[in-house]
Amino acid sequence: MEFEAITKRISDDMRARFANEGSGHDWMHIERVWNNALAIATAEGADIHLVSLGALLHDIADHKFYNNDLTEGPRQAFEAIIKHGGDAVLAHKVSDIVGQVSYKGAGVPTPVHSLEAAVVQDADRLDAIGAIGIARAFAYGGSKGRLLYDPSSAPVSHADFQSYATDKGPTINHFYQKLLLLKDRMNTATARRMAVERHAFMETFLTQFSREWHLSK
Ligand code: ADP
Ligand code: NI
Repeated sequence: MEFEAITKRISDDMRARFANEGSGHDWMHIERVWNNALAIATAEGADIHLVSLGALLHDIADHKFYNNDLTEGPRQAFEAIIKHGGDAVLAHKVSDIVGQVSYKGAGVPTPVHSLEAAVVQDADRLDAIGAIGIARAFAYGGSKGRLLYDPSSAPVSHADFQSYATDKGPTINHFYQKLLLLKDRMNTATARRMAVERHAFMETFLTQFSREWHLSK
């Protein structure tokens, strides 16, 4: 089957499945990552077809919703490509990208093995920072019943994936455990440039949050 037809079937399927997801992993997150991934891929000369399918399927089975199982996403991405008319070679390549996207803790390296995986990882991380990243972090924290902030709970620099994935700290800690670290962990020069303004906005937000917190005490 043609790439365009597979892409259309997969985007329709993902749009329907994630239309009303309430933790910041909804279809519009996928669509933003898809659009940014295509823009970065064009600037960086990556394979557009692989980046497109990798971005569309990167959150098909996020570990956070599968008992922190990191194999479920790549497995379901493989199945989706086959189900929608792709062959095993394509399914394997896309599944491989999906398996390289996730952040796993401040102290855990997340190396990428291809330019296409680098681009999808960067696009996903861009949507975790800036104004949208702030909104998503609090949406996710709210969906898990987390406090906004707790001065008695210090951020942790997680050395392994299990401790990162089972962290129950307040959402402000997540900025120090992940979001503020992302700009220096971008793989491509294009994404690094796109991250600058978003990163600065998070710093402004945190400064203002702290000001208001202390003024209200
Ligand atoms: P990843 O797979 O790298 O975790 P996602 O694209 O799945 O990235 O997005 C995770 C989203 O959920 C981000 O916006 C992130 O800020 C949010 N998130 C994840 N863990 C937490 C947490 N402990 N507290 C607040 N937000 C979180
Ligand atoms: Ni994502």
